[in-house]
Amino acid sequence: MLKPRLDIFGTTIGLVLLVSLSLNFFSGGYNQFETEKFHKAIQQCEGRFTKPYRLDPTQRNFNPRVKVHGLKAGVPKLIKNALLLDGDGTLSKQKMDIYIKNGIISNVHEAESIESAYFQQSFNIVEVIDAQGHIVSPGLVEMHSHAGICSQPELKGVNDMFELMSPVTPFTRVIDAFNIGDPAIQLIAKGGVTTSLVLPSANLISGEGYAFKMFVPPSSSAEDMLVQYHQEHLPNQGQRQRWMKMACGENPKKRYISRPEAPKSRMGLGYLFREYIHRAELLRDEQDEWCDNVARRHLPTNPFPYSVELEILVGLLRGQVQSNAHCYETFDIETLLRHAKEFGFQVDALHHALDAYKIPQILKNLPWNITVATFASLWGFKKEAFQASLFSPAILEKNDINVVLTTDHPALPGHTLNFQAQIAHNYGLSKEKAFSSITGQAAIGLGLDDRIGFLRKGYDADIVIWNKHPLEPGSTPLSVFIDGETIMSLNITKEFHEKKLGNRIKSNFTRNGESSDQFIITGIEKSFMKGIEKIDSDPYELLVADGHIKCFAKSCKNYTTNHYELISVENGALLPGLTALTESHGLVEMQSEQSTGDGDSRSIEGFEVLKAKDGLHLQSEHLKRAYNSGVLRIITPPFRSEGKKFITGVSTSFNSNAQDLSGILKQEVALHITLGDMGKEDMTPTISSQISTLRDLLYKNLFSENTFGEVARGVLPLAVHVNSKDVLLHLIKLKKELKLNVIVIGGLESHLVVDKLKAENIPVVLKGWACQRKFWDERRCLTGVGGEVSLLQNLTREGITVGLGYPEDLDVRLALDYCASAASFGGLSESEAVNLLSYNVDKIFNLKSENQSFIVLEGSPTNYDSNIAVIVENGVITRMYPELEPL
Ligand SMILES: *[C@@H]1O[C@H](CO)[C@@H](O)[C@H](O)[C@H]1NC(C)=O
Ligand SMILES: *[C@@H]1O[C@H](CO)[C@@H](O)[C@H](O)[C@H]1NC(C)=O
Ligand SMILES: *[C@@H]1O[C@H](CO)[C@@H](O)[C@H](O)[C@H]1NC(C)=O
Ligand SMILES: *[C@@H]1O[C@H](CO)[C@@H](O)[C@H](O)[C@H]1NC(C)=O
Ligand SMILES: *[C@@H]1O[C@H](CO)[C@@H](O)[C@H](O)[C@H]1NC(C)=O
Ligand SMILES: *[C@@H]1O[C@H](CO)[C@@H](O)[C@H](O)[C@H]1NC(C)=O
Repeated sequence: MLKPRLDIFGTTIGLVLLVSLSLNFFSGGYNQFETEKFHKAIQQCEGRFTKPYRLDPTQRNFNPRVKVHGLKAGVPKLIKNALLLDGDGTLSKQKMDIYIKNGIISNVHEAESIESAYFQQSFNIVEVIDAQGHIVSPGLVEMHSHAGICSQPELKGVNDMFELMSPVTPFTRVIDAFNIGDPAIQLIAKGGVTTSLVLPSANLISGEGYAFKMFVPPSSSAEDMLVQYHQEHLPNQGQRQRWMKMACGENPKKRYISRPEAPKSRMGLGYLFREYIHRAELLRDEQDEWCDNVARRHLPTNPFPYSVELEILVGLLRGQVQSNAHCYETFDIETLLRHAKEFGFQVDALHHALDAYKIPQILKNLPWNITVATFASLWGFKKEAFQASLFSPAILEKNDINVVLTTDHPALPGHTLNFQAQIAHNYGLSKEKAFSSITGQAAIGLGLDDRIGFLRKGYDADIVIWNKHPLEPGSTPLSVFIDGETIMSLNITKEFHEKKLGNRIKSNFTRNGESSDQFIITGIEKSFMKGIEKIDSDPYELLVADGHIKCFAKSCKNYTTNHYELISVENGALLPGLTALTESHGLVEMQSEQSTGDGDSRSIEGFEVLKAKDGLHLQSEHLKRAYNSGVLRIITPPFRSEGKKFITGVSTSFNSNAQDLSGILKQEVALHITLGDMGKEDMTPTISSQISTLRDLLYKNLFSENTFGEVARGVLPLAVHVNSKDVLLHLIKLKKELKLNVIVIGGLESHLVVDKLKAENIPVVLKGWACQRKFWDERRCLTGVGGEVSLLQNLTREGITVGLGYPEDLDVRLALDYCASAASFGGLSESEAVNLLSYNVDKIFNLKSENQSFIVLEGSPTNYDSNIAVIVENGVITRMYPELEPL
């Protein structure tokens, strides 16, 4: 488990030389001054060989970090009756008692055992927490975060994650920028993440990252947040773990596009990288030469060769610093490994690495254990992310490659790290590895598995009590402890009973019956289709012929005079086809590559009304995946990058399986506009100019036969992408004035105007079930963690018509995973959850729900173990057990 590092430099010989030298030197007859200089020189020379220190948890009874929590910290506590889910993903069979003291786990014993009773006698417990059979785990470990250097809400004043002085900035350090005032730190902790490696972003050689506990101490000191805080905390030998960040591919290539001297191609990046490592090599050799002189008792006249600029790279070459490389494509990974071989350093972790699953053999052949710190859900938005697979963590696991999952907060919300593990598990990563990938394996990846990532005797007492299994939909922490101190605690009101965890991987599908139009499906227990709802679990039969549902009953034999194909499913559930509002489905394939479709409407200035129907590009990979995930219908406004465009244009609705324009279901669905910070552009740089421009456009066209006229007369809905409460107030006022048919999209602060939305009958399409208060306009959204109700729950309870949208287009293929999470975070029934993704969206956009197109699931739409068995379109079977990633 402990990760040995390669000793590539044969350092022991040098060390022996120095030690023997210092012994015989100090016995010689030199004066005091020279002795001091020599002493310092010897220390500097020995420093070349110190390696990151490793603790021995079995010998540990004190965590120095306990001091940062205040005077009363470290008192003995007992968490009793815990189902212990450890950092290797194993779940205890019995309930356990966990003893905490001095910031570490003092002991773990089986609950109600003699050992536990005996240990308790001498423990002087101050606080007892009864976990009542709930799952208790080590705190989650995030291996790739930007918390503290990209504070939320994002403001220019505190966005420090990009250093743009040059593509090569090995000398920059996260600790110099880390803002303890970033509120995301607390939110991340409430999501159960107790340690985050915060890395600088984007540059070819980006700088030094630091690992922080997600607890802001009373001292308000960033250094007090370091896992390995303060120099005095280090044992006599060894240095702290250090993490260097680098990046390959599109990020460093594109970021300096306007700088003539910076590289624009991977060849240029390769040169610059090698040049810098070579300079570090020369400095290292200079140091070694200097130290050889010291060893020969010739104190050089020049000082120890040192460079702030190259210092960390020399550390990398000496095996004292771990390297973490953001690299996606297989050839980028190979290039980096080529450089590593040339200069003799180790690539400890590949980050993002969405294509690593394609080259397991190359990774396995390395002489060290490489970590792939990746995402489960990301795909498709740029070229280097386009080859990704939902099955990649599972493929890496099969090849014995260490998988760690990350959020890259704020790219994904840091407090939803366990969702990444859920998705990876849903698509084949074993439940043990899935949980380990955000705890123990991540700690191993950091080289901190001697103190975090596991819930064992001697480890830091970073502990989470979960409301349910962390791999189940909607799981959130009830209590979080860091260094044994309570960071968050909700009442544990009832006994927890573990459920069997399933996933969406079924090995034995039979694929037949495609294109059938006369068929009977047996074994359907539930139906969420309007008109034929059913929730008891009696198996029913569904008979479809001539494009229509002819019978849905216990037995449909009475109708079977002709030949019908018989399909039997298990735990069948009949669902309407899902409808998704997307950003770019059917318009562009990769959002960052304008050649892959219609283009970026943001590049067009002014208030011209673009229509998505005029730019459709069908049969794309995004559409295929949507369709095979049960999302049969799409609504898309003209695409604009980063969601920024005041008059966005008119959306169109079409069948995700459409081959040509006859697949358009409704040519013009709604006029989309963007109000708020995202709508600020040259001609509407303020909210007031946005509102007055909109008012003018509508009044001026009130009687015109054009889009603004239709909107002004309430014929065409006005779909407003807006989050801010204050902007919502202006919108509602305008709606009242003009009797507009308004739809709110985003609506992250809509709970703050919920009464007015209800009074005006304004529906809301939320972008997912989570939010992270990323921007100023959404800083007050309800996250649903730490005992707070979620926005979804607030709005549905208040009787607002809510449709579920997706945070990003890549999430559309996870529609069923979103359905399950939304049900849990919204406190919704199965049918309410299904409605959020189907009928409600149809109703909000005034689309006719088609009930001859539907999907049949095996399992419940609110569980992670269901699969699509059949997709039917206009009464014809088009897919059986569809491939999520059709070739
Ligand atoms: C890699 O990990 C395996 C299993 O954890 C371990 O046995 C092996 O020694 C490690 N190899 C190296 C080079 O660290
Ligand atoms: C937790 O339980 C205690 C005692 O039963 C009660 O006083 C307190 O209000 C509860 N807190 C919450 C947040 O429900
Ligand atoms: C698949 O199903 C068939 C028939 O039910 C069975 O004979 C076979 O063993 C199954 N294969 C696997 C790999 O489960
Ligand atoms: C189908 O749609 C029609 C009209 O919207 C509705 O009356 C009917 O109940 C729906 N359900 C079925 C199963 O036909
Ligand atoms: C099928 O026929 C039987 C006998 O005629 C009758 O009792 C039953 O109700 C019929 N079922 C349906 C679904 O019509
Ligand atoms: C929704 O949020 C608003 C604003 O915070 C609050 O007044 C209202 O009580 C909440 N409703 C529910 C059901 O949580």
